[in-house]
Amino acid sequence: MDAARLKLAVQKAGRLTDPSLDLLVRCGLKLSRGKDQLVGYGENMPLDVLFVRDDDIPDLVQEDVCDLGLLGLNVLEEKRLEFAARGGAARFMPVRRLDFGRCRLSLAIPTEASWQGVDSLRGKRIATTYPFLLERFLREREVTAHIVTLAGAVEIAPRLKRADLICDLVASGATLEANHLREVETVLECHAVLVRTPLILPPEKEDWVQRLLMRIDGVQQVRESKYIMLHAPRSALPEIARLLPGSESPTIIPLEGSPDRVAVHAVCRENVFWETLERLKQAGASALLVLPVEKMLA
Ligand code: PRP
Ligand code: ZN
Repeated sequence: MDAARLKLAVQKAGRLTDPSLDLLVRCGLKLSRGKDQLVGYGENMPLDVLFVRDDDIPDLVQEDVCDLGLLGLNVLEEKRLEFAARGGAARFMPVRRLDFGRCRLSLAIPTEASWQGVDSLRGKRIATTYPFLLERFLREREVTAHIVTLAGAVEIAPRLKRADLICDLVASGATLEANHLREVETVLECHAVLVRTPLILPPEKEDWVQRLLMRIDGVQQVRESKYIMLHAPRSALPEIARLLPGSESPTIIPLEGSPDRVAVHAVCRENVFWETLERLKQAGASALLVLPVEKMLA
C-alpha cells in the first residue's frame, strides 16, 4: 500500500458501516471499490478505506497501519482501558464526535428476574464482550461480581446458564426482546467517533486530515441546518430574529416599492419546525420559505 496515502479504517459489516460510508461520500470522497472488498481506493483524495472488524480498529491505529479510524465509543473506551490495564497507553486520539451510531452499553437481566438496583449484581455472573468497561462500572459502584468474557453471542449466555445476566450493546432493543432479556442499567452512552494517530504526519497527509475534519464539521452542521427566507415589516425584525432558531445575523434586504417591509435571509443551525413558522407569521412575516442547506464552510 502507498505510504503517501491516508488509511482510514471503517467497520466492515455492522451498524456503523452505512452511516460511515455516507459521511465519507458527503465529504466528497469517491471510492473505487465496494464494501465487500478489504480496501476502497479514494479516486479523488489520497485516502484509502480499509474495511475491518470494528474491534480491530483501535489496534490498527495503535500500530500505525491506519492513520484514522471510525468506530463506536464502546470499542474505543474498552480498548483504552485494556491498554491502560496492560501498563501502556492508547495511541489513538478521538478527534470528532459523530452524529450517528447512537446506542448504549447496558446491563440486561432475564425478563422475569427481579432487580433492586446495582446491589442485585453482587456475586452474579455477567457475560460481556466489554470486560474492562464492565469492571470499571462495578469497581466505581463497589460491587463484586464475576465477569464472564465472551467473544460474541452474549445474549444467549443466560439461557445456556453460562451467566445470570449480560452487559451488551443495545440500540433498538430488538436483540434483548428476542432473547427475553430486559435492560436495567446503562453502563455507557455510545456514538460513533473519529480517531487519529497522535503521530506527526507528513505535511501533505496532515493537510488532508485537516481538510477531512473541516468537511466532516460542515456535513454535520448541514444535517440540521436550514436556509430560511421571509418578508417582514421592519418593526418586527427584533421579534423575528428572536424566533429564528440558532441563526446568526440574518441578511436584511430592502423590498422594491415597499419601504416598510424587508426580506430576511438566515441560516438556522437547528431544524425549523412548523411551530416556528407559525410564530413567525404571527409576528408579521409572510412569503416564508425553508430550504435545505447542501454544503457549508465556516
Ligand atoms: C450489538 C449487540 C447486539 C445488537 C443489539 O452488536 O451485540 O447483538 O447489536 O442491537 P439491537 O438493540 O438493535 O437489537 P453489534 O451490531 O454492535 O455487533 P458486534 O458487537 O459483533 O460488533
Ligand atoms: Zn464488534
